[in-house]
Amino acid sequence: MQMKSKITGVVAVAAAAMVVLSGCSSSSDTASSSTSAAASGSADASGSGDATGKRACVMLPDADSSSRWENGDRPALQAGFEEAGYEVDIQNALNDTGKYATLADQQLTKGCDVMLLVDLNGAGVQVATKAKAQGIPVIAYDRPIKGADLYISFDNFKVGELQGQMIVDAMKAAGTDVATASIVYVGGDPTDGNAKQFHDGADSVLKAAGSPGPAFETPGAWDATKSGVAFEQAYTALAGKVDAVWAANDINAGAVIQVLDKNGLTIPVSGQDASPIGLQNVLLGKQSGTVYKPFQLEAASAVEQAIKLVNGETPQTDQKDTTGVPFIPQTPTIVTTDNMQVVFDDGNAKVAEICTAAIQAACTAAGIK
Ligand code: BGC
Repeated sequence: MQMKSKITGVVAVAAAAMVVLSGCSSSSDTASSSTSAAASGSADASGSGDATGKRACVMLPDADSSSRWENGDRPALQAGFEEAGYEVDIQNALNDTGKYATLADQQLTKGCDVMLLVDLNGAGVQVATKAKAQGIPVIAYDRPIKGADLYISFDNFKVGELQGQMIVDAMKAAGTDVATASIVYVGGDPTDGNAKQFHDGADSVLKAAGSPGPAFETPGAWDATKSGVAFEQAYTALAGKVDAVWAANDINAGAVIQVLDKNGLTIPVSGQDASPIGLQNVLLGKQSGTVYKPFQLEAASAVEQAIKLVNGETPQTDQKDTTGVPFIPQTPTIVTTDNMQVVFDDGNAKVAEICTAAIQAACTAAGIK
């Protein structure tokens, strides 16, 4: 079954990353993503202590703003903690902050030795405060949370820079003058601390390339419908004069592309997550690229650090996020048709899922196998 084999692929790579991290392997050539996982952490979870009866509690934010949470992070975290002998309780708040609080309370009642929280609309802070009052270490996973013990994510400013770069390159390739180009910004939900980082990174690269800034900026959302409606408004306000779009992730990009398609326009559009819709739009030439953030890197780092925190060790990092929380960032990369095979090789995309009938010719042209 497709779903099963998909999870197996992800687990295999995540497990490989854990082996590297636990120091059981002398080589780091298991997969490109696990290679850099090994390089980025202090990479020794061998003092993992006795995990008997230990519980890791994880809160995910939603299932629609990106496919990553359910299809990437969940199986990678599940496998990583189980590998370390932990029981795992992963809940998804389905974009409902009330549910977020209730589900986290239920986890705390059952008992947690460590909590990994992906913030949703600020709901993470209260949960972190409660958990810490009970002496439970808290990791802010992917999105920053004030007061957490540790923040594990990608370098999110860099994510934005790569997004800016991919549309600057695409504009240049299309002969569009960046200095006079009409660029629309379709950012992420401003309550997500990452959204500003993505924005500022992209904005810095666009401005360095000569852009005076956005011709129109939407309010920002992690939501296909809201992003589509907002972009439609931008398009109308600019009377269709749009030369490029900075879109903060693949879901937002997909919504923008639907509007562009309707108007018969193909222009540079950025993305993030290497999600199925993003990969397909890149293959079809409708999206310039997508920022690839193999979730195995984040999950492996989070599991490693969670175990350290449970054992009373202090995370080793000299970086801090904007609120002063110790920060361990992973490095993102750009994926275009030229190097997309790596996503498949890492087990983070399935040919059967991406290369459907409508995309088949593009997959063949890109040499995807
Ligand atoms: C994550 C992205 C994701 C977005 C929407 C951000 O915080 O870093 O990977 O696309 O949230 O879920």
